Amino acid sequence: MKIPILCIISMAILLISCGNVKQEPLSEVIEYGLTVATEQTLFLAKEVSRREGQLPRTYEDNEIKTSSYRAWISGFFPGVLWYLYENNPMDEIRKYAEMYTERVEEAKKITNNHDLGFMLYCSFGNGYRLTGNSHYLDVMKTGAQSLVTRYDKTVLAIKSWESSSEWQFPVIIDNMMNLEFLLFMAKESQNESYRNISDNHARTTLKNHFRSDYSSYHVVSYDTITGIPHAKNTHQGYADSSAWARGQAWGLYGYTMMYRETNRSEYLEQARGVASFIMNHPNMPVDKVPYWDFNAPDIPNTVRDASAAAIIASALIELSQLDNSIEAPKYLEYAKEQIRSLTSSTYLAKPGTNGGFILRHSTGNYNKNSEVDVPLTYADYYYVEALLRLKKLQNEN
Ligand code: GLY
Repeated sequence: MKIPILCIISMAILLISCGNVKQEPLSEVIEYGLTVATEQTLFLAKEVSRREGQLPRTYEDNEIKTSSYRAWISGFFPGVLWYLYENNPMDEIRKYAEMYTERVEEAKKITNNHDLGFMLYCSFGNGYRLTGNSHYLDVMKTGAQSLVTRYDKTVLAIKSWESSSEWQFPVIIDNMMNLEFLLFMAKESQNESYRNISDNHARTTLKNHFRSDYSSYHVVSYDTITGIPHAKNTHQGYADSSAWARGQAWGLYGYTMMYRETNRSEYLEQARGVASFIMNHPNMPVDKVPYWDFNAPDIPNTVRDASAAAIIASALIELSQLDNSIEAPKYLEYAKEQIRSLTSSTYLAKPGTNGGFILRHSTGNYNKNSEVDVPLTYADYYYVEALLRLKKLQNEN
């Protein structure tokens, strides 16, 4: 029996429209994500509270793994708590936010790596924004002084890691994320040099870290006499020439933030270029949660990095509000799709599982087989940040 063509078309239209009808309203997705995030985070906060000085890191082999303030991830868990407190000002959330923020305080004296922005701005920065506690500002003042000891006037950048036989002055793309902290402290302490350092670092990175397609190297090491790059490598990516997923996410977030803070058009151009690289990449999966490296040789049989998706989503939401071009709505749509994916049962933890972490399927350092396909606090931090950014936009409209 032949089925008339009109009948087939009507059935197709019906199926498509059923698909649309079935999609939950975004506001419900956001609220569900925030509810699960709150429940999970309170569980985790309680579990780790008895481990003196420790901060949640990941959940592996049915065990919650923690770190001290020294780890680069130390500020994210207090940051998640502060964001959740901002969304729902419950005394219990604030109590834990304050407790875990205190555990990071000693990081303010660190001078042997660049991670102070992650450590202090996510924790003390959010805490100060929400409570006005002047002690939090004092901690950040000391931290900013520690961070700028790593700035070099010849290279015009902040050194990420200590020198090694391979690298004289290594700078990683992740370091862009420390600049928001320095720019904030420039305003708070009327310190123009912090602003210049941030601007110089961003310009140096823009010049040397990016390829013509706007993908970025992970590590660029500079000759300390000439200030010129002597090596361009990877540390956490598949290859020197590959596009490590989280590195691309840090770059996108970093230049979006730099444009917000400086209004310089070259930073907007850079953010647009990185966004286009990510959004149009042929190896981006349909759910828009990238594999750990865009050039991993075993795609699609390799692991994802939900942390990269969360960072990209948060950055794209911001970029969509800063950019006036016709691309802006596309950034927002893409971020919404990422948030829908991350809030699906594939990535969002079933309440009471996942050790109390929010998201599943992130990858820390694939090359060292360290934290592969696990929950990670920075995935949770940028996921909750993205949910709040979307919620704010929804409330404004
Ligand atoms: N900043 C370290 C990382 O992204 O893994």
